[in-house]
Amino acid sequence: MAPRSTLPTIDVHLSEADADAALREDARSGLTATPKVLRPQWLYDARGSELFEQITAQPEYYPFTAEREALVAGADDVARLSGADTFVELGSGSSTKSTLLLDALSRTGRLRHYVPVDVSAAALEDAVPGLVEGYPDLDVHGVVGDFTADLRSIPKVGKRLVVLLGGTIGNFEPEQRRDFLAALADTLDPGEHFLVGTDLIKDEATLVAAYDDAAGVTAAFELNALTVLNRGLGADFDVDGFEYLAVWVPQSSRIEMRVRARRAMTVHVPALDLVVEFAEGEEMRTEISTKFTRETIAAELDAAQFDAVHWVTDPAGRFGITLARRR
Ligand code: AVJ
Repeated sequence: MAPRSTLPTIDVHLSEADADAALREDARSGLTATPKVLRPQWLYDARGSELFEQITAQPEYYPFTAEREALVAGADDVARLSGADTFVELGSGSSTKSTLLLDALSRTGRLRHYVPVDVSAAALEDAVPGLVEGYPDLDVHGVVGDFTADLRSIPKVGKRLVVLLGGTIGNFEPEQRRDFLAALADTLDPGEHFLVGTDLIKDEATLVAAYDDAAGVTAAFELNALTVLNRGLGADFDVDGFEYLAVWVPQSSRIEMRVRARRAMTVHVPALDLVVEFAEGEEMRTEISTKFTRETIAAELDAAQFDAVHWVTDPAGRFGITLARRR
């Protein structure tokens, strides 16, 4: 097959100015909240994205491999059951799992459109051309946008399969998850599908180790949030003044990733005209990773007008993917 001669279209629904304004707003509300909290979006600057790639290679971080195994086992069934000709991939980033679904959808003979959606224009520009090289007849239409805030940027073309992999839905708070699923149901027509990957509840030691690897890569990734605030807002966080911890919170079925002040500190945030005090030992949450069971994710989907129609896990049952059909 001849290589594609033109670059795929990429639509930008999120400008750098929008991202800047959102960072300010999130930082102001999060740094003045009790307890303090940051939103995980800001973890993924260039260094953060690099560190995340490294996380996926740590022996303790099983979700990456486990989801791949589940996809290998289930991609053909998912492709057939979805009947989709349009593959919309939310948070595609530099996903190396996209090809498993692209291949399976191609094998059904129906696939026409591929819509990778990501907040990072750079991630799309880097990853998409290489990814679609092997599919010269595929119409590729990238979208730079924040799907957590706006699903309207998803084009209405063909019969769609919208995919959210990696367990990323576990990053959302329960209310955010409800809002997201409701907005997605609003965007889709009856009979269209949503495929979602969820990490599953398991023993605490395995969960905590996955989010606090021995090499300290996850710690560096979460602490990088402070560097992002220093650069983006002119703040003066002393990153070495903080340490990282991962805590399993069974009541909310989630791992909470936090940074803790080793000593009392005063942090200036000039862009917000804000001074923030940290007490010794004070913790600030940087990310959550919610864990599910087959039943809990199916119930949340059901509440949002989706029927769970297919379920696959890796052979060890660590990670699940659910195919859901819009009612
Ligand atoms: C990208 C949200 C799926 O929660 O497992 C991994 C992010 N953060 N280690 C996850 C993450 C620290 C990851 N997701």
